[in-house]
Amino acid sequence: MSGPRKLHVKSFGCQMNVYDSHRMADTLASEGYVETPTLEDADLIILNTCNIRERAVDKVYSELGRMRDHKQEAARVGRSVKIAVAGCVAQAEGEEILRRASGVDVVVGSQNYHRLPEMLVRAERGERLVDTEFPKEDKFDRLAAPRRDAIRARGASAFVTVQEGCDKFCTFCVVPYTRGIEVSRPVEKIAAEVANLAAAGVREISLIGQNVNAYHGFDEQDRPAKLAQLLHRIAAVPGIARLRYTTSHPCDVDDTLIEAHRDIPKLAPHLHLPVQSGSDRILAAMKRRHTRSDYLAIVARLRAAKPGIAFTSDFIVGFPGESEEDFGDTLALAEEAGLVGAYCFSYSPRPGTPAAEMDNQIPEDVKAQRLQILQAAIARRMTAFNTQCQGRTFEVLLEKHGRMPGQLGGRSPYLQPVQVQAPPEMLGEMAVIKITGIGPNSLFGELAGAARVPELAAAGG
Ligand code: SAH
Ligand code: SF4
Ligand code: F3S
Repeated sequence: MSGPRKLHVKSFGCQMNVYDSHRMADTLASEGYVETPTLEDADLIILNTCNIRERAVDKVYSELGRMRDHKQEAARVGRSVKIAVAGCVAQAEGEEILRRASGVDVVVGSQNYHRLPEMLVRAERGERLVDTEFPKEDKFDRLAAPRRDAIRARGASAFVTVQEGCDKFCTFCVVPYTRGIEVSRPVEKIAAEVANLAAAGVREISLIGQNVNAYHGFDEQDRPAKLAQLLHRIAAVPGIARLRYTTSHPCDVDDTLIEAHRDIPKLAPHLHLPVQSGSDRILAAMKRRHTRSDYLAIVARLRAAKPGIAFTSDFIVGFPGESEEDFGDTLALAEEAGLVGAYCFSYSPRPGTPAAEMDNQIPEDVKAQRLQILQAAIARRMTAFNTQCQGRTFEVLLEKHGRMPGQLGGRSPYLQPVQVQAPPEMLGEMAVIKITGIGPNSLFGELAGAARVPELAAAGG
């Protein structure tokens, strides 16, 4: 074969899929594949899929149609292209994908990515394969670590999966079925992965999990460790300047986590804490296991522990049985909790989940109307928060080149995009920025201090 084989990975869904896509690419890099940003020259295409809402699944099948055409065209000029489907649709639908999408060679479930190289060898021989088992071995032990150049190409902010799966079974949600039961990685393995990233220039780490604050791993001495302990450990990795974690469930916010927000300066003053609804009736029907006042109490305790902390959330509107009054409670909760942003979704019935079987489904036009109202209310809250940031000084990780020449772009501690005039050599570093302007999609700022790279000198980096 001429030249290395080229791999194109397309990722849908949440941050865990982004992380998994990187780990698949790292593993295949050690098999000789190089990544390509374009579909056209790829020998292998991996579609990393999301199953969370119906629309996400529709997207997968339309994308697979496009890829089949590409594969057929390539075949006409004598090139063999393989197509693999990974992620949550692969896990949930397995064989069905091979039946529905004739171009697909490999279907690999979310816990089997370490088996991809071996599956691809068999696919090269003409087999079509599915592996959606939940294996006994730990994929994380078998996936290759990223190379330094791959880490650099991905930027100064990185995700690291620390926990996967969910045991909560909210009645609307497919995740417990597509990601399996909760599994946490050991503290020291996560710390080693973070150290490797930091050594290649990563400054910000987002610890990720479907239910990240249910983290229950083990430390070096085999003692149980919660998320708070893990955060303390990761904050101590030389070179790491900022820490985040996502996504959390309100029921798993415990005292130690609240104290971690008080005690770890590197932990960003922002928490994404999905609530889904402001109505106790709907929260119960969703099986969220908390009430509206529980949520407000957690927010208040975190605010007391960490003055200035800001909250964002997720909402579902039009859950079965949601009345105008329930929806009103949701709007009121966004105010009362003082949210500065939220992802709002229209309820999408998912096959196999209890809520899909409920007989009081809400008509699509009502859902659409509520979605619009909630989104507008959230947008107003976000704009108000952005406006309050005028004149404030933030630490901003300068992650990429900005929109204009001479600009660099990054994120504030609250994840707001920030554009700043700064020399290109500051790319990848944390800088102190004074906010001088508020745009519709980003804040504008100017350098107000040198780049801050904490213990890096001490670490000899
Ligand atoms: N583990 C997280 C959420 C993971 S899914 C948590 O517990 O909050 C991300 C978001 O997708 C959810 O917060 C929810 O708002 C939305 N979502 C999940 N299932 C959905 C469905 N069936 N219809 C619409 N939105 C859904
Ligand atoms: Fe889904 Fe989150 Fe509920 Fe788990 S806790 S079932 S991931 S919404
Ligand atoms: Fe989607 Fe799976 Fe993430 S369903 S949101 S890719 S966990």
